[in-house]
Amino acid sequence: MKKQICNVVTGSILTFSLLGISLQLMATTTVEVYKSPTCGCCSKWVDHMKAHGFNVVTKDVGNKEIRKKVGMSESLGSCHTALVNGYVMEGHIPAPDIIRFLREKPDALGLAVPDMPHGSPGMEGQRVDPYNVLKVNAPGQTRRDAEIYSRHNVPQAQREAPSAAATATQSDEGASIMRLKH
Ligand code: CU
Ligand code: CU
Repeated sequence: MKKQICNVVTGSILTFSLLGISLQLMATTTVEVYKSPTCGCCSKWVDHMKAHGFNVVTKDVGNKEIRKKVGMSESLGSCHTALVNGYVMEGHIPAPDIIRFLREKPDALGLAVPDMPHGSPGMEGQRVDPYNVLKVNAPGQTRRDAEIYSRHNVPQAQREAPSAAATATQSDEGASIMRLKH
């Protein structure tokens, strides 16, 4: 009995300290967001990042120049470009994907959600479309060569039959999905 209590106490201390570490990690992590001063969905994505504990600094100068400078391909382009811990984060990427990526610290340029998918963070509304977060391995890598890092808003039917999912989204994400098969 004594041992059981001890385990419970140790467990909660461990959980508490792990949570503490992750909160601390995000609070000290500054994200520099290059965006248009008038784009509403950019501001909503900034709010999404703040809600996940990130410290956000915005530069209302547009993102075309910075995107080119850091080597994020235009084919992966979206409405805003963010810099964090030396990585490039293009578009409406969900914060949990960024947190996972920053923990993994891969040898890569960053992540991208090209265009502006309906139902991604900052693009909430009635319409919800499936979209992928892409991992961009090096500067200049284009959309067709980027790897799928995570999938979002995948319909239930496709989740149950992964091969059907690949076929259904092949038209727009064809290159990436075909890459997964190899
Ligand atoms: Cu946008
Ligand atoms: Cu934006």
